[in-house]
Amino acid sequence: MGIENDLLLRTIAKEKVERPPIWLMRQAGRILPEYRAIRQSLSGFIELVTTPHLAAEVTVQPVDILGVDAAIIFSDILVIPEAMGLPYELIEKKGPYFPETISSASQIENLLQGEKAAERLTYVYDALTHTKRLLGNRVPLIGFSGAPWTLFSYMLEGQGSKTFSKAKAFLYKEPKLAHILLDKITETIIAYLRLKIQSGVDVVQVFDSWAGLLNESLYKEFCIPYLRRIRESITDVPVIIFSKGAYFAMEDIINLSPDVIGIDWTLSAAAFRSDHGHDMVAQGNLDPCVLYGHPEHITRQVTDTINDFGGRHIFNLGHGVYPDTPLDNVKHLINQVQSYRY
Ligand code: CP3
Repeated sequence: MGIENDLLLRTIAKEKVERPPIWLMRQAGRILPEYRAIRQSLSGFIELVTTPHLAAEVTVQPVDILGVDAAIIFSDILVIPEAMGLPYELIEKKGPYFPETISSASQIENLLQGEKAAERLTYVYDALTHTKRLLGNRVPLIGFSGAPWTLFSYMLEGQGSKTFSKAKAFLYKEPKLAHILLDKITETIIAYLRLKIQSGVDVVQVFDSWAGLLNESLYKEFCIPYLRRIRESITDVPVIIFSKGAYFAMEDIINLSPDVIGIDWTLSAAAFRSDHGHDMVAQGNLDPCVLYGHPEHITRQVTDTINDFGGRHIFNLGHGVYPDTPLDNVKHLINQVQSYRY
């Protein structure tokens, strides 16, 4: 059965479309009062992520309430370390925290990997099945994973960090062990994405949120080979690669031939088109802080962004929407994009 609003899929297939589709990273979350209501009734974020019917409900909220052109499954990238044997917590107002972090060969040895690890995440696949039922065939459903380096950085660092210097130090001090761990993470990501595809996702996005902390040579050695393996293993659905801040590695990322390349606001649409991806489908890249400004300013930025990409464009922010963003401005953004015509 076809999807009623297939604008996202037609854009990815490089068909001629009437306007760019729009969805927002972190669209399911604290910007919505309906999300906060469900979240408040629970012990915490992890209970929401691990309760399939509730995860499905909040996944569909932005489709019902905001009218976005795609749903993204409500979950977190950190479920993969957990499935490999390294559980996380989410500390209110602080973010992710790992009671145990990786520092030795024996710990890496003991981690589960591949299907054995991915099969433990039944709550995610169940949430996808529930979501498909709630969504009907309204819009495509996006599944996602963290990229190997971004997951590695949490497993070493144990929490968010401005520098991720523990994780980066490991690349310099223990390159062989780093490769062994990245390999195990990669095998798990592939098994996990395959199970998500079997559960009905139409597109997958790989989030390399901390790519921008590296440089070209580290990215070439510790990221690109693993992203290539993921890219080549996923052939059933389109793949979006979002390496935040990694414009130094843009050519290498383009050479992976992702179906879509995600970009943040530090690379302008015009520069991306002229220097790199002339005909690639691009996703992005409005600065989420634009949404704190006046609606007239948002309108102008929407028009400029769409014009600068000049087609083959999925409208999104350059990173997740911040939780305290005025909801009316989010709605205004979506309306502006959806009333645009090429
Ligand atoms: O995009 C979506 O709407 C789908 C849901 C989603 C979440 N996390 C929900 C979430 C996705 C795609 C993620 C991915 C994720 N998680 C990334 C990659 C994307 C990015 O932002 O770069 C990263 C780095 C994480 C790790 C993570 N999880 C952090 C840093 C935090 C705390 C940040 C915060 O806002 O408090 C989380 C928790 C988290 N994941 C929340 C949500 C809605 C907030 C939890 C809550 O209090 O409700």
